[in-house]
Amino acid sequence: MRILFVGDVFGSPGRRAVESRLPSLRDELRVDFCIVNGENAADGRGITAKIAERLLASGADVVTLGNWVWGQQGFAPYLNGAERVLRPANLSPRTPGRGLVVHDGVAVINLLGELTLHPFESPFLAAERLVEEALRETSVLVVDFHAEATSEKVAMAYFLEGRATAVIGTHTHVQTNDARVLAGGTAAVTDAGMTGPHDSVIGSLPDGPLRRFTTGLPVRLEVASGDVRIEGALVECGADGRATACELVRVHVEPPD
Ligand SMILES: [Fe+2]
Repeated sequence: MRILFVGDVFGSPGRRAVESRLPSLRDELRVDFCIVNGENAADGRGITAKIAERLLASGADVVTLGNWVWGQQGFAPYLNGAERVLRPANLSPRTPGRGLVVHDGVAVINLLGELTLHPFESPFLAAERLVEEALRETSVLVVDFHAEATSEKVAMAYFLEGRATAVIGTHTHVQTNDARVLAGGTAAVTDAGMTGPHDSVIGSLPDGPLRRFTTGLPVRLEVASGDVRIEGALVECGADGRATACELVRVHVEPPD
């Protein structure tokens, strides 16, 4: 089985890249199952119900989110009925949505890292519980670990070695050159990268972040547009859920005429 994970979709350039290119990319890479992190899909902060539906219609089997889950007003109730759109599992259980789904024989878990992102529950304790629940239904399990620190993401890969098919890091928008399969059959990459404009400071026009960093003022950031890519990781696994290969994906997407 071949599983494509698409890294954080950022703003309208990222959305357009998914809509225009993901269907053909799925064919080219002979993808059986596709997971898309959409947590920055709406203007770089959060997602809307309409955008989530469009990502699903473009070839995502499951959409995952992250720290910006509540970034768009009015989105939260949608999560109650949206089976294939996950929020991080380790948020308060008193919020809408879920962080685990089993769809077409693949379990997907979305978790939020502790360092700088402050989830409600430890991602490691949440993983312990949910992985057991997922593996009762299927052997193929992909974890999107949305976290800031490389240490935390690498640690999660080892924590789930031999239990998860893949532990894919998201959130930093900078693809890391460490795609690998651990001895226990778990594919891992510290960050899958960003699907969006790379002539930017992790998605935004540089001017805003530079003003923030030099003045400390809360500057509104604007979505950039240049050098749009789809970035992610492609994982191969057997029916037993053991990964056999993991490689990075980086596809340049031509701007619309
Ligand atoms: Fe994030």
